[in-house]
Amino acid sequence: METGRNPDRPDGSRDSDDRYRAHLERSRAVWDRWSDYYGLSERDFEPAREAAIDHLRLEPGDRVLEIGPGPGVNFERVRNEIGAGGELVAVDYSPGMVANARDRIEPRGWENIEVRLADATTADFDEPFDAALATLSLSCMPDIRRATETVYRSLAPGGRFVVLALRTIPSGPARILNPLLWRFFRWYANWNPDGDVAGSLAAVFDECEIVDTYLAGSAYTAVCTKRDAA
Ligand SMILES: C[S@@+](CC[C@H](N)C(=O)[O-])C[C@H]1O[C@@H](n2cnc3c(N)ncnc32)[C@H](O)[C@@H]1O
Repeated sequence: METGRNPDRPDGSRDSDDRYRAHLERSRAVWDRWSDYYGLSERDFEPAREAAIDHLRLEPGDRVLEIGPGPGVNFERVRNEIGAGGELVAVDYSPGMVANARDRIEPRGWENIEVRLADATTADFDEPFDAALATLSLSCMPDIRRATETVYRSLAPGGRFVVLALRTIPSGPARILNPLLWRFFRWYANWNPDGDVAGSLAAVFDECEIVDTYLAGSAYTAVCTKRDAA
């Protein structure tokens, strides 16, 4: 029977490599397109982003990783917490978003914020981070579980990963809207059809809790912790 799978890779890994690449490249195209029109989305989620950053419990001097920062909507708030002595490394795969994020940094002289153009799913970092943040970005990644593992590896023991994410409506009559929501986010944000943000966080992190929900439960913030060294 024709399975469409590479006979050298009966586990289908070529299929999944191809899907990974296709998703990543579509993300770049989608987010480059939206990089010129991000103002509304930036304003809409301000209170939820602010609360997510509070959950990081940052201290002056902390080193923070942000994945999928878009045009840098969280930079000012994170910098207010970590001060000039901290460091923020932000990784985004869209050249348009990266250019906008750098445009936000330069006039403000935020020398301790570095924006890297890379796939956050597979990125490698030299030194561990005290905390990590993903607002509205994890569900767009080509392999959510792998992106979560990358963040886990990059955190120092005791480090927190705070994630603000969207999902379909979990309960109640408004669930009737889910098929429409799903299609919209697939088109608008290149949502990963195989991904499970909450499930990946729970599987990879030692502790994980949903601490806030918004919009009939279709947006939530999860706080995940890497266990402290014994
Ligand atoms: C919905 S925007 C979120 C931007 C911002 N964090 C916010 O709260 O508005 C999703 C961002 O994730 C980025 N992204 C998607 N896939 C990525 C990947 N594999 N690696 C890094 N960034 C990625 C997109 O380029 C985009 O900037």
